Amino acid sequence: MPQRTLIRDATVVLPGETARTSVLIEGGRIARVDAAPHTRADEVVEAAGLHLLPGVIDDQVHFRDPGLTHKEDLRTGSRACAAGGVTSFLEMPNTVPQTVTVEALAAKLDRASRRCIVNYGFYIGATTENLDELVRATRTPGIKIFIGSSTGNMLVDDQECLEAIFAETTLPITAHCEDEATVRANAAALTPPLAIEDHSRIRDHRAAVTATLRAIDLAMRHRHRFHVLHVSTADEVAILAKQNDLITAEACPHHLFLDTSDYARLGTLAQMNPSLKTAHDRAALWRGLASGAIQILATDHAPHTLEEKRAPYPASPSGVPAVELFLPLMLNEVNRGRCTLQDLAGWMSDGPARIWDIVDKGRIEPGYDADLVLVDMAKERQVRNEDQHCMCGWTPWHGTRLQGWPVRTWVGGRTVFADGRVATEPRGRELVFDHPRGGYWATRD
Ligand code: DOR
Repeated sequence: MPQRTLIRDATVVLPGETARTSVLIEGGRIARVDAAPHTRADEVVEAAGLHLLPGVIDDQVHFRDPGLTHKEDLRTGSRACAAGGVTSFLEMPNTVPQTVTVEALAAKLDRASRRCIVNYGFYIGATTENLDELVRATRTPGIKIFIGSSTGNMLVDDQECLEAIFAETTLPITAHCEDEATVRANAAALTPPLAIEDHSRIRDHRAAVTATLRAIDLAMRHRHRFHVLHVSTADEVAILAKQNDLITAEACPHHLFLDTSDYARLGTLAQMNPSLKTAHDRAALWRGLASGAIQILATDHAPHTLEEKRAPYPASPSGVPAVELFLPLMLNEVNRGRCTLQDLAGWMSDGPARIWDIVDKGRIEPGYDADLVLVDMAKERQVRNEDQHCMCGWTPWHGTRLQGWPVRTWVGGRTVFADGRVATEPRGRELVFDHPRGGYWATRD
């Protein structure tokens, strides 16, 4: 690795301001953000006309490794990250075996150290019986609870269990919020054969709102940090707008860019949990991001093979891949004037680092790790299934033209993506989480 790399004359998205300047990387960290253009370096990257952003941190991916590696593995998933400017990911526990013990967590971390192109962290999953593991766990961003069931059969909706988890653990908690009883009752009320449109009738607004309210109630009573995954409804945005710093939330690209009208075009490729909602909900999610009711973005990257997805509903699995297109989709929105690069740095880098207490990540600032992405805001390209690095090789955005693409990605000062090519060696490091007891969203200015 070059000891000193100078990224010369980029438009750099710094905390609170965007400035045309040069950034010096030394020993894997950002050494200076106002380096003189003639500073000596082993490598100089000419970046005039390009924008430099902090690398994206995606706090919700499913990389299927171990156990479901015909859909994705840590290598292919993290390569897709590198190509998309995602420099760190947090992965969910619904693998085989599930990440529900300290031992399984350590095994996954070990596996990742030999496979990941970008930085990694893994949630520990809650079950109805693993409270002692959740209490003991370290080296994790937090605890994931499936308050509603989804891929992988990890449901915990017994009130006594949930009370105990919120009362007796200290790690931040996050949850998949769709109310199981509502989902089951909705499904039972429909007469087969079902069509894909029924997915949004089964996993309806009420299912999402009921579970989100239930989780927020638990968090507030137990004074426990809680993060709402993949918000999908306008009503949840209204509820989140009234919360304090204890509660944070995220939105996903599929809920921001697709709605129930897309089933006609995409069929089961647009099936995910929580389900797609209406254009009205979609608009509310964008407003929630702008107002701060929703603080961050994440993909819920959940790959399944095309063959699996093509099964007739409801045999088809829920989930869509997204890590590689996450940043391009959002850069395209910046070009359209819907948001700014400063917004993206907050929603996709600094915000997730703050929510999960990730040490030295998420900002372009001296001392922070040199996890960076250089983007060309003028570059236009059509999304094609065949260009995707993820194993499943399809995307719901096939055929979409996007303007604004990553051209180079660094992880810890090393290039992992450039000239259209992704590194093959494992460059990623284990993320470090510094969870202050009782501290939360407000702890970093
Ligand atoms: O659509 C989804 N798929 N939602 C989830 O919560 C899980 C995911 C998966 O693992 O396939």
